[in-house]
Amino acid sequence: MAFFTSNRPAASAADTVPFTGPLISLRNVEKSFDTAAGRSYVLRRISADIQPGEFISVMGPSGAGKSTLMSIIGMLDSAWTGEFYLLGQAVHAMQQKQRVALNKQHIGFVFQQYHLIDDLTVAENLDMPLSYRNFKKSEREAMVADTLDKFGMVAKKDLYPRQLSGGQQQLVGVARAIIASPKIILADEPTGNLHSSQGREIMELFTKLNEAGTTIIQVTHSEENAKYGKRIIELRDGWISGSEGQ
Ligand SMILES: Nc1ncnc2c1ncn2[C@@H]1O[C@H](COP(=O)(O)OP(=O)(O)OP(=O)(O)O)[C@@H](O)[C@H]1O
Ligand SMILES: [Mg+2]
Repeated sequence: MAFFTSNRPAASAADTVPFTGPLISLRNVEKSFDTAAGRSYVLRRISADIQPGEFISVMGPSGAGKSTLMSIIGMLDSAWTGEFYLLGQAVHAMQQKQRVALNKQHIGFVFQQYHLIDDLTVAENLDMPLSYRNFKKSEREAMVADTLDKFGMVAKKDLYPRQLSGGQQQLVGVARAIIASPKIILADEPTGNLHSSQGREIMELFTKLNEAGTTIIQVTHSEENAKYGKRIIELRDGWISGSEGQ
């Protein structure tokens, strides 16, 4: 059967079999701070699997650990223990540089406190995530223009974050998170500072992105926003206290 012989080395299983496990898998993730009063735990034994294409709402009282959990999943925080697999890759075993690279490649993050870059204009803030990818300058300009238009921010494009209202900064934060079409959107209270109709528009935008395959995890205090998600993870005092939905 000489026809079928080849000098190419046999492909390994990892080359040929697409990864079919959870997108995100957390096992006994814990985070604590050492304070004068002793060790204080912010996350306790968090174990969860999140499948590709899920839309999850994380809920729970203030101080429950929601933002802390989002920072860990977004690979912005590396001071925790336990196991975290992203697409089967062991994030807990990675160097900081690899985590940053994975974040840039796969994640769009909406920060609760916006975290826009102060000395960049609105348009330059939106360009930031695109600059990490392989887009031509002209493509980037077109994507920024399109996103500014979609978010009704064309007139603000040359302003700096301090020249925007809180709600406008939040909109730019959402726009920056989605502009590069990331695989995963992590949104921490993405509509907390928006008028209710603008908040609904953002939820509808997330719904569309989710229908197109984007995995979304949002933190929300709003029952109405939580309903856009298909599953709720409830946090309380750092523990997962409940999970509802499919
Ligand atoms: N540097 C720190 N040292 C000690 N405790 C901290 C530190 N940073 C955060 N914490 C504690 O971690 C806990 C969880 O904070 P986190 O921001 O994750 O809460 P949250 O659920 O997002 O709350 P909110 O709904 O108000 O945004 C809080 O009790 C907070 O005091
Ligand atoms: Mg928070």
